[in-house]
Amino acid sequence: MTEVNNEIRLRAEEMVRVKAALSPENLEAMPSEEMRQTIYELRVRQVELEIQNEELSTAQGELNAVRALAGANKLLAQQIEERKRIDEALQVERNKFKSILEAMPDGVYIVNQQYDIEYTNPVVEKEFGPVKGRKCYEYLHDRMEICPWCKNQEVFSGKSVQWEWHSSKNDKTYDRIDTPLFNTCGTISKLQIFYDITKRKHAENELREYEKQLRDLSFQLLTAQETERRRIARELHDELGGAMAVLKLRVSFIEKNLQPGQTMISEECRQTLQYIDQIINNVHRLSRDLSPSILEDIGLTSALKWQIDNFVGHYGVKVATDIENIDHLLPKDDQIMIYRTFQEALTNIGKHAQAKNIAVAVRTCDDRISFLVEDDGRGFDVEELSAKKLSEKGMGLASMKERAKMLGGSLHLWSEKGKGTRIAFSIPITKVERL
Ligand SMILES: Nc1ncnc2c1ncn2[C@@H]1O[C@H](COP(=O)(O)OP(=O)(O)OP(=O)(O)O)[C@@H](O)[C@H]1O
Ligand SMILES: [Mg+2]
Repeated sequence: MTEVNNEIRLRAEEMVRVKAALSPENLEAMPSEEMRQTIYELRVRQVELEIQNEELSTAQGELNAVRALAGANKLLAQQIEERKRIDEALQVERNKFKSILEAMPDGVYIVNQQYDIEYTNPVVEKEFGPVKGRKCYEYLHDRMEICPWCKNQEVFSGKSVQWEWHSSKNDKTYDRIDTPLFNTCGTISKLQIFYDITKRKHAENELREYEKQLRDLSFQLLTAQETERRRIARELHDELGGAMAVLKLRVSFIEKNLQPGQTMISEECRQTLQYIDQIINNVHRLSRDLSPSILEDIGLTSALKWQIDNFVGHYGVKVATDIENIDHLLPKDDQIMIYRTFQEALTNIGKHAQAKNIAVAVRTCDDRISFLVEDDGRGFDVEELSAKKLSEKGMGLASMKERAKMLGGSLHLWSEKGKGTRIAFSIPITKVERL
C-alpha cells in the first residue's frame, strides 16, 4: 500500500469508528467475528472511496483552473505580440509623418495647452532660430505673456483657424492654419502650419497701387478729353459758326446786288445760302455733341431725352423710354459722365447694331439710380471682343465701364450675336451732398 492510500485507510477507519459509535446498529451486536470484520471492511472501503472521490473532484477543479489559466496565458501572450506589432507599425507611421513634416517647405510646429512648443520642423528654426524651451509667445512674438490675438483657445476647443500674420520679428507675412491635434492621453495640442506670403503680399500691394494709378490716369484722361471737347466745341461754334454767318451775309449781299436777268447766279446764290444753312446746322449739332453745355441749359434728364429724340430722328428706330427726373440727385461732373455714357451707348447702336427697337430706362430705387440701354440689333460675342488686343478694339465700351466705376458703380454688358445688346449700370446717390 502506498503512503497516500495508508493515510486514506486511516481516515476511513476513524470515520467508520465515529459513525459506528453514533449508529444505533452496533457492530458488536453482529453474529460472528468474521461477518463483523467483513462489514467493517466494507464500510471502511466505502468511506475510503467517498474520500477518494472527494479528493478527485477537488483535483479535477484545480486541473480545470490550471487549464483556464494556461488558456488565459496564451491569449495574453497573443495580445502582447499583437500590441508589439501595432507599436512597431505605429512607430513606422510616426517616422513617416515626421519625415514629411521635416521635408515640408512650410513651417510646422506643435504647441501644448501650457503653450510649450513640443515640436518644430527645420523651417521654423530657420525662420525664428532655436526654441530653447521658450513658450510660443516668447519664441515667436517676444512677449512675456499670451498674445491678445492668440487663437489657441479656439483650437483647443476643437476648431481649425486660418489667418494671416505679420511678424514684426522678421517683417514677413505668413498665412497660418492652426488645427487641433488630439493626443492619445485625451488632451488637445495645436498643430500650426504657416507659409511665407510676403512676396505675394508685396505683389498684391503693387498691383493695387498700379490699379489706383491707372484709375487716376483714366480720370485725368477723361477730364482732359472733356476739356478738349469743350475747346473744340467753342471753336467750332465761334470760329466756324461765325465765319459761316459772315459768308451767309456776303452771299446775301451778292444776291441782293445782282442785275435783273442774272437768274442763273441768283439761283446759285440761293442754293449756296441753303447749303450754308445746312453747314451752320451741322456745326451747331457737332458743337452741341461735343460740348455738354446742353446740360447747363436744360438739365441732365431733358438732355438725355433730347439725345434719344435726335437718335430716333436720325436712325428711324422705335424707342421705349422710362426716364425719371434725376437732375437733383447728381452733381454736375457726374451728370456729364452719365450724359457721355448714354452718348456712347447710342452711338454704338447707330454704328454697329442695325436695331429696329431700343429701350432706355433711368430709375431710382432706394439710394441708387439704375440705367439701362437695350437694343434688338445684331449683337456681338462679348468674350471674343474681350480676348482682342487693346490696339484692335475701340475705346467706347472701356470708357463707359471706367465712367461707371468713377461714379461708384459697375457696368454690366450683355450681348449675343443676333439677339441684341443690353447695357446696365447703377450708381449710388451719395453725391447729393456735394450739390
Ligand atoms: N449695340 C451694339 N450692337 C452691336 N455691336 C456692338 C454694340 N456695341 C458695341 N458693339 C461691338 O463692340 C465693339 C466695341 O465697341 P466700342 O464702343 O468699345 O468700340 P467702337 O465703337 O468699335 O469704337 P469707338 O467707340 O472707340 O469709336 C464694337 O466694335 C462692336 O463690334
Ligand atoms: Mg463705340
